[in-house]
Amino acid sequence: MSRTDPKSYFVKSFGCQMNVYDGERMAELLDAKGLSPADDADAADLVVLNTCHIREKAAEKVYSDIGRMRRDDGSTPMIAVAGCVAQAEGAEIPRRAREVDIVVGPQAYHNLPELVAKAARGENALDTDMPADSKFGALPKRAKQAPSAFLTVQEGCDKFCTYCVVPYTRGAEISRPWAAIVDEAKALVDAGAKEITLLGQNVNAWAAEDASGTMQGLDGLIRALDGITGLERIRYTTSHPNDMTDGLIAAHAEVETLMPYLHLPVQSGSDPILKAMNRSHSAESYLKIIERMRAARPDIAISGDFIVGFPGESDSDFEATLDIVRATNYSQAFSFKYSARPGTPAAEMTDDFIPAELADERLQRLQALLNEQQMAFNEQTVGMRTRLLLERDGRKPGQRIGKSPWLQSVHLETDAAIGTMVDVDIVSAGPKSLGGALARKEAA
Ligand code: 5AD
Ligand code: SF4
Repeated sequence: MSRTDPKSYFVKSFGCQMNVYDGERMAELLDAKGLSPADDADAADLVVLNTCHIREKAAEKVYSDIGRMRRDDGSTPMIAVAGCVAQAEGAEIPRRAREVDIVVGPQAYHNLPELVAKAARGENALDTDMPADSKFGALPKRAKQAPSAFLTVQEGCDKFCTYCVVPYTRGAEISRPWAAIVDEAKALVDAGAKEITLLGQNVNAWAAEDASGTMQGLDGLIRALDGITGLERIRYTTSHPNDMTDGLIAAHAEVETLMPYLHLPVQSGSDPILKAMNRSHSAESYLKIIERMRAARPDIAISGDFIVGFPGESDSDFEATLDIVRATNYSQAFSFKYSARPGTPAAEMTDDFIPAELADERLQRLQALLNEQQMAFNEQTVGMRTRLLLERDGRKPGQRIGKSPWLQSVHLETDAAIGTMVDVDIVSAGPKSLGGALARKEAA
């Protein structure tokens, strides 16, 4: 089917923050080609669905979304499926959903404008290559930024957890070069960012030579970014316990712009399950890291990921997960029911699959405990004076929402501009956010 050249676009990203980053870069590419952003998918000539493959539900969602693209007059926009479903399913996608014009994987999206031109000519537009030279060099300079920006520094994964599709959809672990990251961070700050979150599937495995040829780890990179004038806050996510180096832990004690927050997935508290997951750490070694992090930075907020109902998980394995949650005391966490993913080793463990009802029940018990901890963490900040980065308007007039150092959303009334840092007193706590009041200067 041949189409006219699209004049407007809309990018919809699902899944992790790396997808959000990729979605922003695709938008910048399309802007540079003279397309204009549409307010929503309905108003766009080209819709990019930037998909997630991590669990079955996320992966299936793309097909219902494609169906929803059909308009009242029966027409559809040009549809590009990007992201991890594109990588995993490739040519199968247009076979299953004929409306799809373009399929583009996460390592190939620098070719999106070319694929759009091909699709407009009615040609097959599919690119799921993982080229040896990275896409980053072919992307335009960073454009106008919100106060908090993402910066992908590392992609892919060599850890091969037995449940996980990432090593297949995102490929082998690669670290972006030092200079490219430093330049992009400076460009983000010039474009208005005050906070940068360094992203990678295994961000703390990042390693590369600095400008003088010395090998550096993530802590070295953080220390260099700390020197960028105008950059107020640095964060990073997601980390693997095995790559939590002494240097990175020390950076939390020493680098003022590095925020007191660590997302460190443990997945399970049971050693036999961790072994079956190929996590290569134990419950004890995880807790040891948490202890060292807290020694370095006593106020650090710890976040995590959990999977319940992994094949073979017994009642006592699940109890061990509750135990590690109690021992860690999370400020926030994400928990999921195990989802068998095609092509992963755990998907073959069919004899040990856990019934869905049992997994549901475990997930509810785990989430109740995690919610309790999150509420307690939020309550403990009431009465504190802290600093916020104002990120956006709140729902009520005169209200703005900012983030605390511990990544909590704080609502407050102020006319201070978005993108500024303000001192606040935390006055109330809810399960998901806090209330704050602008701190009054003490009389001299
Ligand atoms: N089933 C359920 N959860 C999964 N995750 C990764 N793969 C699966 C799966 N097959 C979770 C892990 C990971 C987070 C990003 O998603 O907890 O840390
Ligand atoms: Fe998946 Fe993370 Fe394991 Fe990589 S380290 S395989 S992304 S869970």
